[in-house]
Amino acid sequence: MLQERIPDLAKFVEPDRVRKEVYTDPQIFELEMARIHEKVWIYCGHESQVPKAGDYATVQVGRQPMLMVRGKDKLVHVLYNRCPHRGNMMCGDRHGNAGEFFRCSYHAWTFQHDGKLRSIPMMESGYAGTRYGKDNPDCNMKQAARVESYRGFVFASLAADGPTLKEFLGESRIAFDDMCDRAPGGEVEVVPNCFRVIQHSNWKIFLENQLDALHPSVVHQSTGRAAHEVEKDIAKKTGKAPLSYHMLSAFATVTIDKWDNFQTLNYPYGHCILTGYMGLRPMDPDTLAYEKVMHKAYGKERTEEILGVNIHHVLIYPGLSVQSPLQQLRAVRPLGVDKTLTEIWHFRLKGAPEPIYRRSLAYYNLVNSPSTMINADDLENFWKCQQGLTSDAGDWVSFGRFHGRDLEKNGVVETGPNMGTSEAPMRNQMKAWARYMGNGR
Ligand code: FES
Ligand SMILES: [Fe+2]
Repeated sequence: MLQERIPDLAKFVEPDRVRKEVYTDPQIFELEMARIHEKVWIYCGHESQVPKAGDYATVQVGRQPMLMVRGKDKLVHVLYNRCPHRGNMMCGDRHGNAGEFFRCSYHAWTFQHDGKLRSIPMMESGYAGTRYGKDNPDCNMKQAARVESYRGFVFASLAADGPTLKEFLGESRIAFDDMCDRAPGGEVEVVPNCFRVIQHSNWKIFLENQLDALHPSVVHQSTGRAAHEVEKDIAKKTGKAPLSYHMLSAFATVTIDKWDNFQTLNYPYGHCILTGYMGLRPMDPDTLAYEKVMHKAYGKERTEEILGVNIHHVLIYPGLSVQSPLQQLRAVRPLGVDKTLTEIWHFRLKGAPEPIYRRSLAYYNLVNSPSTMINADDLENFWKCQQGLTSDAGDWVSFGRFHGRDLEKNGVVETGPNMGTSEAPMRNQMKAWARYMGNGR
């Protein structure tokens, strides 16, 4: 068994390197699901996905098919997507409305939106004298052990105990604060639907890439260069180029040495923040009109505070990557040791003028969607990493860049000055991994 073969999983992780089996061993993957993804707080979805009573959206948490549903009590519940009778999946669609109650398509057991058994056909005659009925909690659709939301973002934990959502998120809450505060209405709403991409690589490879500040100038350089050429051409002819070109050209104009100017902040539980910003606060008429609306909602001082937040990316380990200034969110759903689903979402700032939404949509389509050259280039490397890791040419994956030069203060690891390309975020993620895998929690 795995326990005999691998007596101490924490030994697979050293401060500056990790054993390759962590990415390739199916049994380690099963343990990760049990000890990490089915215990910690996992993002289920946004409350605006289920605005009306009976609205539901299905979601994978670890290995468990779940659903998020709005009850008549207005609360959002998270339930296992399974009928307690014979195990039928309750909702086969990705999302929909269950009506007044859930009704299993097999033998018509019905359940309230919070999962409680409502009725069984001919319950009295069929089940009199048995253990089955409304008094038996095993006849309810099972609820996630804990459900909490933060500024409209719903999380579930399948473990009864552990830190609260707020404690778990810690400083990474800024992802949601920054996104929502940028809305004059203080809230965001989801734009249906999301892109779904299946990556043929381990889930950790995607997360490690998110705050890998060295790779953009290498991997995305060709796209950045081409976009910059066109951008310059348009600017020459018309006097200015649309902002969307900048979203791509920044990959070339922010040259490899400049990425060291940014900084990563690495927190307990594996969360990380990459500061720095691609200069997306221009003085064009759309931005100025938006700032006017913000002044009305918040006053000048607070608006400056909000728009001055300097974050490019927040990674909430083990399943979420958020780019708050552009209202982008990617959720990571591991499907197997070398198969990972990512859901790519974007949001609308409530009360912001339409052009500001178009900006978020442009970034969504140009950078994060499966059809862009940016995401495609990343995906190719993820797959190639997974392929290379199956070889016998080496046992370790290295995270040694700027190792030993991080600054640690009160449990927060900051990259040193001019070391933005440090592999500190990967080291921090694996530190959390080892803790979860070694101690269970
Ligand atoms: S399996 Fe659901 S009612 Fe029978
Ligand atoms: Fe990338």
